[in-house]
Parts: sequence; structure tokens; C-alpha cells
Amino acid sequence: MNAVSPALHDASETVNETTKLATTETLLNPRFYTTDFDEMDRIDVSSIRPVWDALLAEMKADPNKGHFKKNADWDHVDWDGMDPALKAEFIDFLVSSCTAEFSGCVLYKEMKRRGSNPDICELFSYMSRDEARHAGFINDALREAGVAVNLGFLTKAKKYTYFRPKFIYYATYLSEKIGYARYITIFRHLEAHPEHRFHPIFKWFREWCNDEFRHGEAFALLMKTDPKLTSGINRWWIKFFLTAVYSTMWVRDHARHDFHKALGVDIEWYDQEVFRKTSEISKQVFPFTLDIDHPRWKPALRRMEAAFIGMDDAKRKGGLAGWVGKMVAGAKGGLAFLSLYTIPVVPNDVPVNPRLEPAY
Ligand SMILES: [Fe+2]
Ligand SMILES: [Fe+2]
Repeated sequence: MNAVSPALHDASETVNETTKLATTETLLNPRFYTTDFDEMDRIDVSSIRPVWDALLAEMKADPNKGHFKKNADWDHVDWDGMDPALKAEFIDFLVSSCTAEFSGCVLYKEMKRRGSNPDICELFSYMSRDEARHAGFINDALREAGVAVNLGFLTKAKKYTYFRPKFIYYATYLSEKIGYARYITIFRHLEAHPEHRFHPIFKWFREWCNDEFRHGEAFALLMKTDPKLTSGINRWWIKFFLTAVYSTMWVRDHARHDFHKALGVDIEWYDQEVFRKTSEISKQVFPFTLDIDHPRWKPALRRMEAAFIGMDDAKRKGGLAGWVGKMVAGAKGGLAFLSLYTIPVVPNDVPVNPRLEPAY
């Protein structure tokens, strides 16, 4: 650690705290990924060449090149005057978003570095460019509060989770499209209710989410190169990833009451709205969507959330009682997940041409 973290030693105590927060491994925190880069390098996009070239041309044109810079729209932020509970949750939101953006940057950059397939290398160089900008922009906002994350330290200190390429496609496709849906839903809400815009970064979300949309398109195309990825046993994996990603988002958002209250957003409404948009978009490539209006859906998500709260309480308690509490809460969380996972899906006819434009 001494060799890799000189900047951390120079930094203030608070910087250490947010960097530590970003480095912490929990079920809910954004992770860093690694994969079988050689297998990914063998992807052949010739079966989708025209749509692939069109998407890459769009990325090459770099429509958001000048977007991630503070300008006159960046109003002064009164960090000291901010309600402490809101400030803590907002910083947690920014750190988690910054980590997620940077996680994409690291994975995509590594793919570009290790690959030799020109199509794949070109794609991942544009995507890592975008994610570096996103992470940097959020970190600028954190820097104003004196709590920037040490991203260089993060690349070295964070644990990397290995996912087979197909799991990277499902997880990353979903996180890009969910990212789009989250950013645009907040942007549209604040457009209608500007009195709730308590920080200028939300003004940047519209153009920002279009980058995420394009990244999601790229993964949709990659999945289109091999029909096996979305059929047979892989349908169960897709369902697993959809359920895991949606329920993680639900639990994480519900831990940020003051943040959503300040935005004037009802968390259940917001999450269902993001699921609805993501599900609609994912029809471009997935042969079904989750039934988020099923009578078991919201009750099971609420039980999952309660289980996570129970696990946190048990951890704090410690000792034998804490251990028992953790086991009980873990079992309750597992049963809630099973209840979600066994809800019948809504079948979908996947179109031949997957390409979509952002429409929300
Ligand atoms: Fe991003
Ligand atoms: Fe992205």
C-alpha cells in the first residue's frame, strides 16, 4: 500500500474517508471487473457490420466532447449550509456514481489495451474516454466539497471481480441502460420541478445520459453477434442479472431518504419508473422482461430491503447475537430474491435490428 498511495497520505482525513468508502467491498457497492479479454477480442461483428459502423461513427464524432466542463450554469454550492443528513447521503451518491463510472473506465481501458481486434479496440477506446470524463466530472463536484476520491489509488486498492465475458455483457449492458434511465428520469423530474435542483450537476444529466445510452447500444450489438447469448440456459442468466441489478438498485436507493426527499422524488415511484424504462429499452435484445407489476414484485423488494437493514443492524451488534441475526437476515434476503426470481417473465419478440435512439 505504501508504494501505491502517496497521494492518499497527502490528502486530508475526509479524502481518505471517501476513498475508503469507494474501496469498500459490499454487496451493494459498485465493483471493479475483470474478464477473459482474449475471448472478447475474438468477437466478430461482421454479421452486424452496417449498424456497428453507424454506432462507432457516432461515438467517433464525440458529440459530448465539450460537455463535461463547468460553465456559467454551475451555480455556487453551499456545502457548509447543506443539511448534514442530506450532505452525507448526497456525497454517498456521488462517491457511488463516481466509482461506477470509473469502474467502466478501468474495464474498457483494459479491454482496449489487451485487445488486437480493431473493431473491439476502437469501441472500448471511445467508451473508456467517456467514462473517464464522467468519473472526473463527478470527482470535480466532490473536490469542491473537499472530499474527492483518489481514483489512482482505487485502481490499485480495489478488488477486481472476475466475470466471464457473457456475464460482463449482461451486467454492463444493464448498468449502462439503467444509468441512462436513472439520469434522464432525474433530469426530466428536475426540469419540471427546478426548485428541487439542490446541486448544479443535475443540469448536466441530459447529454450525459446519451453517452450511457450509446454504451448500452454497443453491448446490445455485441450480444447480437451470437444468438446463443440470449437463448437456452442463458435466458436464466439474463433473468438472474435483471433481478439482481433491479433489486440492488432498489435497496441502495431506499437507503438514501434525505437525498430523494430533497429532490422531491418518491423512491418507489422513481425506481419503478427506471425499471419500466430499462425494461422497455431492453426489449431490443432480451427475449423477455421482468413483470414489475406482478403482485409479488414490490412486497418482495420491500422484504429484501428489510433484510439488508437487518444485516446491517446485526453487524453493528456483533458477537453471537449479531452472527445469528446476520444468518436470519441473510436467509430472509435469499427468500425474497427467490420470490422475485420465480415471478413469471413477460415474453418479448426481439426485433431484427436492435438499434434504438434515446426517447425519454
Ligand atoms: Fe458513464
Ligand atoms: Fe457508460
